[in-house]
Amino acid sequence: MTSMRIVSGLGLLLGLGLAAGQAQALEGDAERGQQAAGTCVACHQADGSGMNVSGGESWPRLAGQDAGYIAKQLHDFKAGRRENASMMPFANMLDDQQIADVAAYYSQMPVTEAQGGEEAEEALLARGEQLALRGDWDAYIVSCKSCHGPGNAGAGSTFPGIASQHAGYIEAQLQAWQEGERSNDPQNLMGAIAQRMSDEDIQAVSAWLANQSVASE
Ligand code: HEC
Ligand code: HEC
Repeated sequence: MTSMRIVSGLGLLLGLGLAAGQAQALEGDAERGQQAAGTCVACHQADGSGMNVSGGESWPRLAGQDAGYIAKQLHDFKAGRRENASMMPFANMLDDQQIADVAAYYSQMPVTEAQGGEEAEEALLARGEQLALRGDWDAYIVSCKSCHGPGNAGAGSTFPGIASQHAGYIEAQLQAWQEGERSNDPQNLMGAIAQRMSDEDIQAVSAWLANQSVASE
């Protein structure tokens, strides 16, 4: 334990994330995943793009997300660590192998364009860019990029891609963390950040991120 204390917080977190991922790692098969994903298409769409939906719900893009991240979320929904009435029944239908398979299936799809944010005002987008790329020292907000990776395109299985994600979905997640309705983030990393953001900050960063394309390899 003593030797672990000298490891930086983030390094420790990444290490733990990796170990947990490996412990439950089942080899996913994208072809089998396509079959298991038959019921997901209604909301997440055939190309994994998801969409902004009116009435406060938004279906996230899954295309191109890391398989380990997708699998973690599905296990979290199943175990009730992440709650959402629309999504939970569908996670409950999947066994561990099917979770690995659908995760493999969606992770190999090219990242799709996001909706929302196109009409945001310039001042709001400038604030969004600041938070996403540089952070705001006065408000104790670290840049999103410092965890979510270059281009906010995601980093490993711990940090999902948030660029080219629907503005409505990003907003809903940040609000859920602010209000304590989503709490499945390791070490409360996102909860702590969301609590320091104003409603306008949330709107700004969501609009800006939705406008950012992720280059597909
Ligand atoms: C009725 C619509 C609906 C269906 C069908 C559905 N989902 Fe979802 N899904 C949602 C919603 C809504 C969310 C966002 C939940 C929230 O806000 O926390 C979500 C979130 C997710 C997430 C988390 C994404 C992230 O970025 O954190 C994953 C993974 C996921 N769904 C996978 C699936 C899979 C796999 C299936 C099929 C077995 C499926 N979903 C079927 C509506 C649906
Ligand atoms: C200290 C690291 C860290 C920073 C900085 C950070 N995040 Fe996160 N974020 C995470 C982690 C870890 C997760 C995954 C949580 C989980 O496993 O459910 C996450 C998840 C998210 C999600 C959910 C994505 C999805 O697909 O459901 C959104 C949205 C998000 N972050 C937005 C932001 C924004 C906007 C910023 C900048 C203002 C930011 N994050 C800064 C660590 C961070």
